[in-house]
Amino acid sequence: MGAAIRGEFPIFETATYLNSCSQGALSRGVRAAVEEWLSGWDANGAEWGYWVERNEAFRASIARLLHAQADDVAVTTSVSQGVSALVSGLPLEGERNRIVISEYEFPTVGQIAHAQELSGAEVVHVRPDDDGAIPPERFAEAIDERTALVCCTTVSYRSGHRHDVAAIAEAAHAAGALVLADSYQACGAVEVDVRSFGADVVSGGTVKYLLGTAGLGFMWLRPEVHEQLIPTQTGWFADEDIFAMSIADYSPHRSARRFDSGTPPVPALYAGVAGVSFVEEAGVSAVEAHVRGLVDRLLDGLDELGATVATPREPARRGPLVCVRSTDVDALVAALAAEAIVVSQREDKLRVALHLYNVEDDVDRLLDALSRHRALLA
Ligand SMILES: Cc1ncc(COP(=O)(O)O)c(C=O)c1O
Repeated sequence: MGAAIRGEFPIFETATYLNSCSQGALSRGVRAAVEEWLSGWDANGAEWGYWVERNEAFRASIARLLHAQADDVAVTTSVSQGVSALVSGLPLEGERNRIVISEYEFPTVGQIAHAQELSGAEVVHVRPDDDGAIPPERFAEAIDERTALVCCTTVSYRSGHRHDVAAIAEAAHAAGALVLADSYQACGAVEVDVRSFGADVVSGGTVKYLLGTAGLGFMWLRPEVHEQLIPTQTGWFADEDIFAMSIADYSPHRSARRFDSGTPPVPALYAGVAGVSFVEEAGVSAVEAHVRGLVDRLLDGLDELGATVATPREPARRGPLVCVRSTDVDALVAALAAEAIVVSQREDKLRVALHLYNVEDDVDRLLDALSRHRALLA
């Protein structure tokens, strides 16, 4: 962890990389995997058999990551594709037509929920309290027997808040609703164990803490859920026999593969399998502990600077992302970039993301730069 594996990520030769919430750093192993894809293409053209094997290798690695079974994992091309397929299988036009969403959902989840209004669904927003947190009670107040689905992202991409998914799920299940925890900002840096997590559906992808690239995601569904839901947004890789090539009917796969789609994103699969295996080797619990230590150090330093931190203090209510308010966040991100410190922004907040390759020195370099740009902190 930290210094021991940093040599695998060339970006650290030139930059202090604190932007895993946007894109995880490229490792030598992921580069080699993508080059393997290119070499295979050069040598053999289509390698369909191996591509399908890579698809299943990815599914299996996500199953291990989530402590799940491979049959309960869909391989998707994005969270958007998976969640669209999910809601296409929900009967939203009857009495149970509500989707409850937290104010911290990624835009795609909110937009897909609102798109269902065109076919009779209603969307209820759960807004944060004055301190920025959305406690489970706020969800409970919004959930009733009309609720079909509750969306509570695990870690907010724009504030760093971590939801109490298990408590929210308790309220949702008592009312007969399903729970989707979009865990893109958690998986790889925070332990997500579906056996105790509470959610019925967990979505994510490989761009961030799983160290792969764009075009590849996943969606775990509780078996009782995927056995019952029939998605109408589908594709031939969701069929019970992809190579039957039949246009005579629609026969969704008996497993969560029914939420897969068309041709798998082959280059992203090579990268994704390599990225996830790196995280797996490090061990998510160990990554989580390492990241928690770095976040503690960052929060202490930010307090000393008198900065306004939007992310909660309690370790259980935060993940790898720390958001700090700025008076001019564009100028602050640019000033840090000029010092080769790579961070990102949302609204008026600087986003600092810590991961397995970061070390205390990265945190100290950032704090030192922030002390020099103190005027840009709110
Ligand atoms: C919480 C969360 N969900 C979803 C996404 C991306 O969704 P998609 O895979 O549909 O592009 C992101 C990307 O930033 C995210 O942070």
